[in-house]
Amino acid sequence: MLSAPRLSSTRPQRRKRLVRYNARFLAPIQTAEFALAAQEVPLSEFILIPPVDEAQEFIEIANDFANPLDLVREAISNAFDAHATDIRLAFDVETVAGEATFVIRLTDNGDGMNRIGLQSFFGLGNSTRRTDRTTIGEKGHGTKVYFNAKKLVAETQRDGIRLIAILDAPFSKLHDRKIPEVLVREEPCETAATGTTITIYGYNNNRRDRFTHGRLKDHVLWFTKFGSIERQFGLETLLGVKLHLKGLDRDEFEILDFGHQFPSESKMSMRFLISTSYRHRITTVAAS
Ligand SMILES: Nc1ncnc2c1ncn2[C@@H]1O[C@H](COP(=O)(O)OP(=O)(O)OP(=O)(O)O)[C@@H](O)[C@H]1O
Ligand SMILES: [Mg+2]
Repeated sequence: MLSAPRLSSTRPQRRKRLVRYNARFLAPIQTAEFALAAQEVPLSEFILIPPVDEAQEFIEIANDFANPLDLVREAISNAFDAHATDIRLAFDVETVAGEATFVIRLTDNGDGMNRIGLQSFFGLGNSTRRTDRTTIGEKGHGTKVYFNAKKLVAETQRDGIRLIAILDAPFSKLHDRKIPEVLVREEPCETAATGTTITIYGYNNNRRDRFTHGRLKDHVLWFTKFGSIERQFGLETLLGVKLHLKGLDRDEFEILDFGHQFPSESKMSMRFLISTSYRHRITTVAAS
């Protein structure tokens, strides 16, 4: 119940204003409360389950990138999380069903996926990395960027089993408010090799102008784990990891070594920066 501002001990001008305030705002509220009480309207409780528009959520996450090249960052992060030492990213235009189609192939020699991994790969908010503090992934959102395509195929093997999963027309089905179904074939594989190849047909409505070799290489070295500067700080665990990259305007792969590539003049300043910040740390610690 609202209490009215008190009138006593107020100056006449303010008192007049309060009277007007009471008449205008409090009186109607009190009247409404009396009316409610008089009718004895029963109050009820109910459980509200917040609804989720699943198809829309998939669409939002699939579109959740500032730059279409961010797909490369997701692929590289997932390959590192799967302990890959060899990553291959190829961008081509191929004729598929008589149509010039932008085709992306992302291959790694990481751990591969079993059925549970594949479920997370296609599911939203499912991550097999959530409990592992050493991985980059945690949300189960990354691969959903691949859904912005005409077709998505994931081929993966581990533990002597090969899984081939095909998702047809994911984006148009989501826009029709349908959660697309994944067709999975399971077969034994002879080799003990593990790894994953993801093929994305018609990514981002076939818009491919940005996927030139130079731009891709810059993106890899500036915005992904592969361009990490950790080597400058003496962390050498990922030293041997190689990335084979082929943008749309190239026929051959370029092989990149792990770590950001500094031009020689920046290497000098980087070394200077690291040594001075190190010296500064030592002097600060010694002084404290
Ligand atoms: N290249 C890969 N090799 C093996 N497993 C993979 C690969 N890519 C994805 N996965 C599996 O698919 C799951 C979902 O991947 P996704 O990128 O959507 O989420 P995440 O990496 O767990 O988290 P985040 O959204 O933070 O990237 C992963 O948790 C992993 O189990
Ligand atoms: Mg990920």
